[in-house]
This record gives sequence, C-alpha cells and structure tokens, in this order.
Amino acid sequence: MRQAWTKSSWREKPILQQPTYNDKRLLTQVEQKLSHYPPLVFAEEVESLKKSLAQVTEGKAFLLQGGDCAESFLEFNADNIRDFFKVFLQMSVALTFAGGKPVVKVGRIAGQFAKPRSSDFEEINGEKIPSYRGDIINSIEPTLEAREPDPYRMLSAYNQSAATLNLIRAFARGGYADLQKVHQWNLDFAEGSHATKRYKELTNDIKKALDFMRAIGINSENTPLLNQTVLYTSHEALLLNYEEALTRQDSLSGKYYDCSAHMLWIGDRTRQLDHAHVEFLRGVENPVGIKAGPTTTKEDLLQLIEAINPDNEAGKLNVIVRMGADAINEHFPPLLRAVKEAGLKVLWSSDPMHANTFKTSNNYKTREFDNVLKEVKNFMQIHQAEGTVAGGVHLEMTGKDVTECIGGAQAITEENLSSRYHTHCDPRLNASQALELSFLIADSIKNGKF
Ligand code: PEP
Ligand code: CO
Repeated sequence: MRQAWTKSSWREKPILQQPTYNDKRLLTQVEQKLSHYPPLVFAEEVESLKKSLAQVTEGKAFLLQGGDCAESFLEFNADNIRDFFKVFLQMSVALTFAGGKPVVKVGRIAGQFAKPRSSDFEEINGEKIPSYRGDIINSIEPTLEAREPDPYRMLSAYNQSAATLNLIRAFARGGYADLQKVHQWNLDFAEGSHATKRYKELTNDIKKALDFMRAIGINSENTPLLNQTVLYTSHEALLLNYEEALTRQDSLSGKYYDCSAHMLWIGDRTRQLDHAHVEFLRGVENPVGIKAGPTTTKEDLLQLIEAINPDNEAGKLNVIVRMGADAINEHFPPLLRAVKEAGLKVLWSSDPMHANTFKTSNNYKTREFDNVLKEVKNFMQIHQAEGTVAGGVHLEMTGKDVTECIGGAQAITEENLSSRYHTHCDPRLNASQALELSFLIADSIKNGKF
C-alpha cells in the first residue's frame, strides 16, 4: 500500500540543506501569502511537457535543459533573459538539424534560486558566517546580517519568476522565435567566433528550406509551428516551504501540481529515500529529475525510481547523470543495466558540469570545456554500447560573454577567468561555449562517433 501523501507530509521527515529562519511567524505569513498567489504554470502545460519527455525517453526527441546555476536578483533584466533565450534557440536549432529530432527545451530559469552548499558556514576575514544559499534565502554579500535567511525573499523570487516567465512566453509565442529570424538570434559579441560561423552556414541552409516550403504553400500563417516555440521552466525543488506554497490541486483531476515550474529536480545532496525532498516530490504530477552522482548505488536508484514513479509512467522521471568525465565510465554502466533489466522507463540525461568542477590556484571555481564535452561523449558511448537512449543534456550556461569555464574555441585560460567572472554560484558555459558544445554534440550524434 502506498503511504498517504499531503503537500506538507515532507515536514515530518528529516531534511538537509535548509535555512534556519529565526522569525517563524514571518515565515508562516509569507507561506500563506504565497499560497494565495496565482500559480506560475498550468497543469495542462505540465502534462504537455510530460508527453514530450515520453518522446525523449523513446528516442524520438532530445532534451536540452540549461541555464544559470543560480539566478540572481541583481542580474535580473530583460537583456539577460533575451540573450539566454537567443542562445538556447540557437543551440536547439544546431541540435535539431544534426540529430534530425525535435528538441524539448527546458530552462533552468524563472525559479532556479535555492542552492545546496558543501558547508553551512564559511570564513570571511577570520569571521564565521552562514553560507550563501541562493537569493531566495539570503544575500551573497559576505556579512553576518546579509546572510540571515529572510522569508520575504521568497516573495521577491516569486515576482522575478513571474516576470521572467512572462517575457519568455512573449518571446516564444510573439514572433521572436520565428524560424524566418534564425539569423537574428546571433549575439553581437559572439560575431566572428567559430561557433557563430557554423551557425551562419546552418541558417543559410534553413533559409533555403523555408523558401522552398513557402513556395509550396507552407508558411507561418498556416503553420504556427514555424514561428512559435515552447520553452518550459525548471529548477531544483530545494526550498520546500516555497514549493509547498505553490502546490495546487487541479480542480478537474484532483491531482496535485507544483505550479512553481513545469519540471523540478532533486539534487545529489538531498536524494535520500526517507527524507523530505523525495517525500514532497513523490506526490506531485510534474516531471521529476533525480541527480545521480558517483556515489549513487543501484539499490538507491531503483528505490528512488519506485518512490517517484511507481506506475512506470513514461516522461515522468529523468535521471540526470553527473559523475565526472572519466568516473562516468566506471559508475554509470551498472546503474543503466540495472534500470534496463528492471524494465523501468527512465529518461537519461547528462549533466557534464557538476562533477567536473575544480578550484584554480587563484581560487576560482571553474570547469574545463574539454571535460564537459568528454563526459557527454562518454555518456553517449555508454548508451550506444548498451542499446539504450541518451535522452539529453543538462547544462549550466548563460547568454552572456562571461569567462567562467576554461577552454573552448575562445581558449579561455586560468589567467583570463577574472576578467568577466560573474556567477553567483557555479561556473557557466558562456554563449559561444554553449553553442560550440551543441555543435560538437550534434556532430557526434550525426556520425555516431563519441
Ligand atoms: C545544480 O544543479 O546546480 C546542483 C547543485 O547540482 P547537484 O545536485 O548535481 O550537485
Ligand atoms: Co550548479
């Protein structure tokens, strides 16, 4: 028999990676307020995403998931959203063209604010202060006062998410994503880069195809698919006070949806079977991701899958593999085989970022572009050897010209990192690196060579 679930049953379980709010009354007031705010997404949209992810699971589409490690209040502006949207569309075009499959686009956006940390405290100039846990919880400013968790920040995160989503929907439906405009999605600062040159060749081919289609009567007036797109939202469901407050019962089906985003995931540090995060996410209808790091065992994974997706519904569950460029070869195949043998419907995607992070001698957290590419290639090769489906990628990236990851065609070096290192948390691929990676993945898919 399945255990009863309510949207607050997680409160009875052990929980990791949470802030300690000192003003409990204020916390409750904020939760109540949020629980009356309009949902950010709608149940039918969540179900559409699930259908698309089922296609990915069967190898009929490819999942592109990506965005900031942590969104920030400070960097919230239209240009950042637009530039992310542009590079995400470019990446998706590169992948569609090579892979010959539709790309399901899911942003780490409009809600990706809460961060798990390796330590509860950090030492700044000899003073021990609480760690930064993301703008939805406290401020990145390194003072004792600024690091105090503030419940009001949940309201700011909600408002920023609503405004972000509003602009994304406008771009997606309002003509910005028109395939006739593929050549305009280029970013000025990337002009002249290797990836941009390849992108230009690609857009010429697309233009020829569109001209032909128009000549035979297919155009965006009679075929809206040509000038509209869908960009779904996702984030790590870490701060459960916020997630619970945005969880709503659908009046038609009686089912529960976490309406803070279309898709949610559980981080590698909070995936304990008997803990709060698994308890909360097992009860909502949204597609759920589970991060699987090098310490994930077969038993862990099979039990987690059973807890989150007991009906073995396709498109419901995404295992996001993040093991490290080389470690994946040792740790991933046994998990993949166990899931295959058990006949479980899992969408496998590769997060080639989180297990390839290191600190430089001058103390910058970074990742090597080559290791990112290597982990994706190894992920694909393992699937090819097992006859299973490599469903997609999960990336930390931005539409901006930052210098946070080393390498790529721009050949960013350790010394360059300081010039535009802006992330609030982990190092992201910049726009050129993200597009270049998409082309390299696309080439591998096309040639079957990983
Ligand atoms: C993340 O996706 O930003 C993250 C913290 O990942 P993980 O849980 O895999 O470490
Ligand atoms: Co991260």
